[in-house]
Amino acid sequence: MCGIVGYTGPRQAYPVILKGLKRLEYRGYDSSGVALLHNGQLNVYKKKGKVADLEEMMIGKSLEATIGIGHTRWATHGEPSDRNAHPHSSKSGRLAMIHNGIIENYALIKQELLNKGYSFTSDTDTEVLLNFIEDIHQHIESGSLEEALRIALKRVSGAYCILLIDQNDPETIIAARKGSPLVIGIGKGEHFLASDASPIIEYTKEVVYVNDYELAIVKPDELILKNLGNEKITPFITKLDMELAAIEKGGYEHFMIKEIFEQPSTIYDCLRGRLDAAAGMIRMAGVDNHIEQLTNANRIMIVACGTSWHAGLVAEYIIEELCRIPVEVEYASEFRYRNPIVNKGDVIIAISQSGETADTLVALEKAKENGAFIFGIVNAVGSSIARLSNAGAYTHAGPEIGVASTKAFTGQLAVLMMVALTIAHHKKTITQERYQALLNELQDIPEKVAAILKNAEALRKMADKYKDASDFLFLGRGYNFPIALEGALKLKEISYIHAEGYPAAEMKHGPIALVDENLPVVFIATNDLYHEKIISNMQEIKARKGKIISIITEGDTTSPKLSHDYFTIPPVDELIAPILTVIPLQLLSYYVGIAKGIDVDKPRNLAKSVTVE
Ligand code: F6R
Repeated sequence: MCGIVGYTGPRQAYPVILKGLKRLEYRGYDSSGVALLHNGQLNVYKKKGKVADLEEMMIGKSLEATIGIGHTRWATHGEPSDRNAHPHSSKSGRLAMIHNGIIENYALIKQELLNKGYSFTSDTDTEVLLNFIEDIHQHIESGSLEEALRIALKRVSGAYCILLIDQNDPETIIAARKGSPLVIGIGKGEHFLASDASPIIEYTKEVVYVNDYELAIVKPDELILKNLGNEKITPFITKLDMELAAIEKGGYEHFMIKEIFEQPSTIYDCLRGRLDAAAGMIRMAGVDNHIEQLTNANRIMIVACGTSWHAGLVAEYIIEELCRIPVEVEYASEFRYRNPIVNKGDVIIAISQSGETADTLVALEKAKENGAFIFGIVNAVGSSIARLSNAGAYTHAGPEIGVASTKAFTGQLAVLMMVALTIAHHKKTITQERYQALLNELQDIPEKVAAILKNAEALRKMADKYKDASDFLFLGRGYNFPIALEGALKLKEISYIHAEGYPAAEMKHGPIALVDENLPVVFIATNDLYHEKIISNMQEIKARKGKIISIITEGDTTSPKLSHDYFTIPPVDELIAPILTVIPLQLLSYYVGIAKGIDVDKPRNLAKSVTVE
């Protein structure tokens, strides 16, 4: 959460920072601010609301500066407000700092500072850390800010990515990272700093991903990386494989709808070069190079959060069915704090779009310390989870900017299916015919997704009809049960309508009490092993006057008779169906969200990348 940007070089810093903040707004958007340093004068401007509110406030202000830092916030300590917005200024006014993360022991440090006579203008942990740094700075012999920062960071626990500037140093940004991402772009006589590469991409493709416990001293012509022990580290320069167009809206009204419509090509990109149905094979280096480890796993544990966790649930069904390996799916936030049994021979699959989710990252660190083999399924190339994993496969969905995850989810499903098929084939737990049939089915998926998207208008109409409902129920069975959960999550996130996902048969054990003539119940009822059973569940809802919306397979003549509204998808093998059934639910949520006038790319209280626990 929170987006940070910094610039030092010959350009005007403000336009670079402002544009960068707009790109990072998906990470948080309750307030934003900038600190600009010019002629020894450090000006800090901040404003509650979105970056556009800051931009408006800045009209007529003194914007001249070739060094500056900017922040867009997702509140942790202290409500969204002007005074809690970043950057924060130190007591003397000499330092300004922005921070992404949480300082867990801030209360203790704050008390120490209060005892020394400090007072605070905000409720944030950041202001505490900044004054702690300044206090150390004022008392150390060397007078070095960098040293003061190192000393301070050794005392703090929690997560941070910070950028710090000093009124008396007109060229330098000092940065440090632990647990929250930081990328430094290397230009000609200039440097860019940001939470991800999107603010940097239009200026340079050469970047350095800063690691945990590293400090960067960044000047226009120089980048020095050090560890907290003051030893220099050689920066590892990576070339960005991303185009500017990929992070712009390209004519769509919102990123979310753009990303939904990109899915035929993102799934194709995910399969491309890996799946060759004609040759009857899948090639995935991350899997092939570790095939014995994966095939001989005693157990697979899948660790993830949110939508990625739903992809994990689908994988549980698929891997157990095809590979006959026991699978457990864990919320990363639970896994990290309980005392899970991880044995030698267990494989952990980590699923994450951003690759920066704090709960997932820490859960994996813990599992890795215990000797687990980690296979990462990640979208953001070069992200922390990707780097922590022993092996893995990227989803290749491209930058996902809309806060609600869509194309990353279908990419995760495609990767998980290829992983499961490869293991099953190697382990001979699948017949050659079934293996070939599933390869063929997977290969056809992008086309079928495109066919569903052609009928998006039908879902817009449905959304208009049901947008005023106060609750929704989503029901599915088997492979489509996790899709019921995902449909409910999507709707909650971007329409603020309360929604619950349930296994269709479980409904009668409680949620059925909610059903009346006002409750829309979305059934994912494609043709599969459970079709007759789910038809019975529809009857149960119909008998209680619930409003049935069903997602069904073309040619199904029973479900329409029971449904108030239905949407058909092309016939598909039940195992692969989740990649298709989720698409109408994404569209339904999107259209309900916009019908209700919600900013679907930036729904309230959410952030794209949850880098706090
Ligand atoms: C829902 C959504 C979140 C994320 C979750 C995990 O639309 O986007 O639930 O899925 O925060 O994020 P990643 O996948 O980045 O680890």
